[in-house]
Amino acid sequence: MFATRFLDIPPLESIGGAVRVPGSKSISNRALLLAGFASGTTAIEGLLHSDDTRVMLEALAVLGCRFETEADRLIVHGIGGRPALEEATLFLGNAGTAMRPLTAALAIAAASTDSSFELRGTPRMHERPIGDLVDALRRLGCKIECLEREGFPPLRVSAGSSGLALEKPIRVRGDVSSQFLSALLLALPLRRDGADATIEVEGALISKPYVEITLALLERFGIDVEREGEQRFRLRGGQAMRSPGTFVVEGDASSATYFIAAGAISAVDAPLRIEGVGSASIQGDIAFVDAVRAMGARVDAGPAWLDVRRNRWPLAAIDLDCNAIPDAAMTLAVLALFAEGPSRLRNIASWRVKETDRLAAMASELRKLGARVAEGADFLEIAPPSSWRAASIATYDDHRVAMALSLAAFNPAAGATPPVPVRIVDPCCVAKTWPDYFETLFSAASTSCGSIPVLAIDGPTASGKGTLANAVAAALGYRYLDSGALYRGAAIAALEAGVEATDECALAALAARLDLHFDADRTLLGERDVSDSLRLESVAAMASRISALPAVRRALLALQLASRRLPGLVADGRDMGSVVFPDAALKVFLTAGTAERADRRHKQLISKGISANIVSLRADLEARDARDRNRSASPLKPAEGALLLDNSALSIEASVDVVLKAWEERRPFDRSPV
Ligand code: DC
Repeated sequence: MFATRFLDIPPLESIGGAVRVPGSKSISNRALLLAGFASGTTAIEGLLHSDDTRVMLEALAVLGCRFETEADRLIVHGIGGRPALEEATLFLGNAGTAMRPLTAALAIAAASTDSSFELRGTPRMHERPIGDLVDALRRLGCKIECLEREGFPPLRVSAGSSGLALEKPIRVRGDVSSQFLSALLLALPLRRDGADATIEVEGALISKPYVEITLALLERFGIDVEREGEQRFRLRGGQAMRSPGTFVVEGDASSATYFIAAGAISAVDAPLRIEGVGSASIQGDIAFVDAVRAMGARVDAGPAWLDVRRNRWPLAAIDLDCNAIPDAAMTLAVLALFAEGPSRLRNIASWRVKETDRLAAMASELRKLGARVAEGADFLEIAPPSSWRAASIATYDDHRVAMALSLAAFNPAAGATPPVPVRIVDPCCVAKTWPDYFETLFSAASTSCGSIPVLAIDGPTASGKGTLANAVAAALGYRYLDSGALYRGAAIAALEAGVEATDECALAALAARLDLHFDADRTLLGERDVSDSLRLESVAAMASRISALPAVRRALLALQLASRRLPGLVADGRDMGSVVFPDAALKVFLTAGTAERADRRHKQLISKGISANIVSLRADLEARDARDRNRSASPLKPAEGALLLDNSALSIEASVDVVLKAWEERRPFDRSPV
């Protein structure tokens, strides 16, 4: 997961291969609630692991559910309709799919007991209305207090005075969020008296497909709901939630929309395969496929897969009532940037009460890219940019804003000149539904090498390049290349094979076959962990000698170039800026005084339990500097235009700040604060 402050996505040129979407959020949280309250044990397969499901799991654990993980299944031991304790406070983050049904479930479960439960969330959750559900539950006889503001969480639900009033239909509004109706449907089987219950929806029901998901899941858990059209739902008394044994969660259709859209824009030579969701889906957002087809893309579908490719180009503009697909419609808003003429997305007022005010958020962020956008009370009209701008996209702690707007990085397809990168501020907000979204995007998307930014940090041995480069890479979410480790790895291979430091041919052959890879914080040579041996002075000495040989350098070049992958690279070494990546966007030449460097190396070795003598270390450093500087192949010298940074008197943090500031000055984004 990208936990950086921002993530710069280079302009992306194509997408292909296959991606698997994570489990559906709506299905996962409903399945967890039902399995958690049901009697019996349920094995859930394909469950989404994300912020929203984590809060549901934590809440259910507080209420007495037990969980076990078995391979990729979660085993849920249900509480049989009765929370194990009478008082608890539940923290539900910003997960509407946890707050609404748990409020209803606990209010109804508490009705004829002495229980009292408090439900809280993030500040944004406390701004999201729940009054219609609270009103419906109160009319039913549940006792609910809004602890801060009437109609909004936090809430306390406790025992009502006189049980539930089920004689009359329970009336609930359907035009603010369908989750209120879903919450009642999921909770009513928990009532203790055997009476029938009827729900009547007031106003037009929005986001209907989500109610279908609720009904489908209730059926799997043994609850039959009789419906009269869309307005009346009847649950006969005496039905209890029962585990279906195994429950398989299908892939998330809303998550799939980002890749369906990416395929429609940029899968040109072959389709992009999306696995985990397809024509058999029970999720409403699968209707996004029809919208994308209407815009001209080609989508072939199997029960649980989709193949998407670009067909008509540019895409046809669209004018669509998006009431049934509010989440997927956010992806359409970004697809509109790639259409011929303005598109209109109608009937999306519910966007205002989602993770953020999505109408305002999408309008403002799309405009930053150069689009012309008209924002109405319940619609958005979007005309594609005539000239694309490199935008820093604010994400409002809203996963869908981040994922949808990331698709703007495919602007080369729209002929953006020049192609522009897209900055996503606070990228980790995608963890709400897809923690690895960006990793998945970068595994499937590609772009020309020159578009992938490189930051080169060169300098003499023990100047602190590695530490600096690592920290800069972590701050930017970029990959990191320690080119010195390649020379050291080749040195280990040479020492072990008994090859002389003068046998250029044999050394080059060894280097060309070098099977060195980096795995989290370990370096592996073949299967072996060589992280510690890499730092040995004997290895460094051999590395210094063999790195003077042009054939060895050539043999290691391909490995270094191959590390230039999305979303970007920070490379450290002696010749990153001068030879390997001459087009690096920023080149830094890092130095420190010899005494300072010898002291740092000494401390580093001692901390690793390797004995060292500072006087000989300094002599070694000087000798190695001289050899690196005077060799004819890639001699150590600042690359042209390099930023010279002497960090003798600087802390690591201060050096990192200098480099990040220089980097920022070279980026094309507007300077709005991030
Ligand atoms: O940075 P380091 O100490 O890990 O480098 C090990 C040796 O490899 C050092 O003697 C210089 C050489 N080297 C090089 O010639 N070119 C690079 N890009 C990186 C390291």
